[in-house]
This record gives sequence, structure tokens and C-alpha cells, in this order.
Amino acid sequence: MSLLIKNGTIITATDTFKADLLIEGEKIISIGKDLTIEQGEIIDATDQYILPGAIDVHTHLEMPFGGTVSADSYEAGTRAAACGGVTTVFDFAIQNEGQGLIETINKRDKLCAPQACVDYAFHVAITDLRAEVLGELEDAVAYGVPSFKAFMAYKKAGLMIDDAVLADLLEKSKEVRALIGVHAENADLVESRTEKFLAEGKTSAWYHYLSRPEFVEAEANKRAIHLAKSLDAPIYIVHLANAEGMDEVTKARDEGYEIYAETCPQYLHFTKEVYKREDGRNFVCSPPMKSQESQAALWEGIKRGDISVVATDHCPFQSEEKDWGEDDFSKIPNGCMGVENLYPYMLSEANKGRISFNKVVELCSSNPARIFGCAPDKGTIAPGADADLVIYDPKQEFTITQDKMHSDVDHTIWEGLQLKGYPRMTFSRGRLVFKEGKFLGEAGWGNFIKRSLDK
Ligand code: URP
Ligand code: ZN
Ligand code: ZN
Repeated sequence: MSLLIKNGTIITATDTFKADLLIEGEKIISIGKDLTIEQGEIIDATDQYILPGAIDVHTHLEMPFGGTVSADSYEAGTRAAACGGVTTVFDFAIQNEGQGLIETINKRDKLCAPQACVDYAFHVAITDLRAEVLGELEDAVAYGVPSFKAFMAYKKAGLMIDDAVLADLLEKSKEVRALIGVHAENADLVESRTEKFLAEGKTSAWYHYLSRPEFVEAEANKRAIHLAKSLDAPIYIVHLANAEGMDEVTKARDEGYEIYAETCPQYLHFTKEVYKREDGRNFVCSPPMKSQESQAALWEGIKRGDISVVATDHCPFQSEEKDWGEDDFSKIPNGCMGVENLYPYMLSEANKGRISFNKVVELCSSNPARIFGCAPDKGTIAPGADADLVIYDPKQEFTITQDKMHSDVDHTIWEGLQLKGYPRMTFSRGRLVFKEGKFLGEAGWGNFIKRSLDK
């Protein structure tokens, strides 16, 4: 089946130009002027932008966490993704104690494959690094999962790995061409501060922030970066949210180290002040939103190129579950929603003039594809690439409200936010999966993306 998108403005990470785009089946086959087809569908994209689909490299779908399971199933999360212009979703397969890595991946893939509405990939979150598991890293890489996550936090939840394990992982990752992502917060400080506040009767969401403020995250950022530099291993800092950590990333990159930093829209938009709100617990995630200064440093990091990726850390919980922490912030399941808001939010910021559209494509699509090994099929608009595309209307005004979202969660931290411009259509490998507010895809359509970091 041929699809011709005519008269649009194509935007990649490096170029902006008017052209027609010809798609055959799942692939882009040509880009040019005045293209025609004998048979098939023609879409007029006059005054619209055509962008590569976003790649959200940080989601937690139906993840057992915080005494419950995150609210979006693989189907709901990937449906929401499609409706926000995300055409590839990375999920974290969390290793349980005693489990092997391939076993961990297979178990999640069995759940995900029949539900996925867009393409998907996994990182494995390593929690139990026995000798045989370290040996299995290479097998996971060969399987197409060359990225792993280490939690430096969540000690009580049993997810944390210690520094010696992190060092082992970093060393091994060099040998097998893998990338280690770290959730950097000082677990001991989080725990002691939490206990102290609760003992003092300081139980509101504000104390979630105070239990893990800037220096608690920055210390772990610096420790992780120091280890990576010392072992000359690449590292990827997930959900960076503080200015001091940002400075350390910049310094390491200026020194020539392969250090990547990811931040999330919630850190670019909200500050710690949200925890003083009546609904503050809905914003509880880790690391928490930080100060205005940290937020400004993240935007500067984006402009300088020291933030490589913007992804969501999509991990929503229902209001009722967030309410468990009404009288004790430590009982609030950690995580917020965002997969449907990532691209619209970042593109709206571009549309308002804060950064360029090319930069948004770089952060949300082409860098994720390059860093995590799914280029050249994903992350750009070029002949031979997958037809993962978003047609974006820069003139559409859109106010985010929960009833317009497509996930299974019953509220959104983005409620009421006014966006300038909005995705009109999303195509996943040539198939229309979203059009003008409506999800048109189907569960089971999404493919597992086998990746490799070999250059
Ligand atoms: O609060 C968060 N971020 N929840 C999801 C798990 C994680 O830390 O990434
Ligand atoms: Zn995390
Ligand atoms: Zn996360």
C-alpha cells in the first residue's frame, strides 16, 4: 500500500525543508518535490510539520512498584504513546531476585507483545548481580537488549545495587558494548531523612521533596560519574533533575567522557512548589521536582547539548493509590504520567520559541535512537527508515485535560496546561494509529526492537 504525504514541512534533527514523502508499506521510500502515486492514499500536509515519531526511552508499564502496579498496562501505555506521537517505547524489565536476564526479558515480552500498540524495546533493571548474571550480560546484548539500569536508590524496596556492583556493571558494559543507566540518589540519605521527618510528624508531600533534595541527587550523580570516568566506561544518567548534577555532566563531557544525561518534561516544567499544593502527592516521583535554579540549569543543559535525551519516566498511579500517602509521604507510590505529553509539550515549547523544532527531534527521537541502538530504522525521516511519523499542526491550540488523554490513569499532573500546536496524526511503521484526538491503532501491532550498540 502506498501513502503519499504532500506539501508538508519535514523536520529532522538537522534539517527543515518542504517536500513530499512517499511511504510503501512500513518504510519511507522517497522524499522529493512533486511526487505522485498511481494508487494509494494521499494526505495533504500543507502548513503542517512532519516529524519522526518520538522514542520514549523511559517508561514503566504495568510495573509492580510501591505496593501496587503502575496504572498503565502495556496496551494502555502504548495507546497513550501513539496518541502523543511516541512510536517507540522503552520499558524497564525489572530483574527479580534469583532471575536470569533473558528470563526477565522473556517474561516481560510475553506480557508486552500481545498488547503493544507501537514498537517497543526493553532495558533490564539489574537488582541481583550474581556471577552468572554478570556473565549473562553478553547474552542479553546478543538478544538485542544492550542497555541496563542500576538503581542507586530504593534500598528498602530491594531495587538498589551498591557501588561495588555498579562498578562491576560498568566494567562489564565496556567489554560487551552495553550502556548502563543509573537512577542516581543517595539511598542512605533518603532513608535517614525520611525516618527523621516521619518521627517529627512531618508527613506531607513537601517532605518527599525535603527527604531527597538537590544535594541528595547530586552526590549520587557525582559518585556515578566518578566511577564511570575512573573505569572509562560510558554511562547514562536517567531523569537528571538538579543543577549540581548537570554541572558534573557538563564537566565530564567537556573532558571527553561518554556521559549522557536524560531529563524529563516534569523537571522542565514544574518545581518543588508543587509539593505544597493540595494535590501535591500526585506529583510525587523520584527524584522529585527541584528548584527554579535547577530547572533553569536543565534548560541551559539542553541548549548547550549536555542533556542528550528528554524522556518521560512514565509511571502513573491512580489517585486512590496516591492517597495512601495522605498522612505519610513515604507511602505514596513514586511516579507520574507523561508518555502522551512528552512530544506535545516539547514541541509546544519549540513553537513558543524556547528551542528549535530540530532540537526537540534531536532530544526526543534521533539521540534516543542513536544512543540506544535503533538507528537508522528509527529516529529520522530518510529513505529506508521506518515510517514512524507525526503530522503536527503548529496552529492547533490544545489544553491538556484528563478526559482527552488515552491512558488508564484517572488524573494528570498536566491538567490545564495550554499547548501551542498539537500532533494531528501518528503513523507507526506506515500505519495510522492516531488521528485528530482518536486512537486508531491496535494491540499486538507493535514489534520488539532488537538493538545493537556496535557502531
Ligand atoms: O518515581 C519514579 N521515578 N518512579 C519510577 C521508578 C524510577 O525511579 O524510575
Ligand atoms: Zn528512576
Ligand atoms: Zn524510571
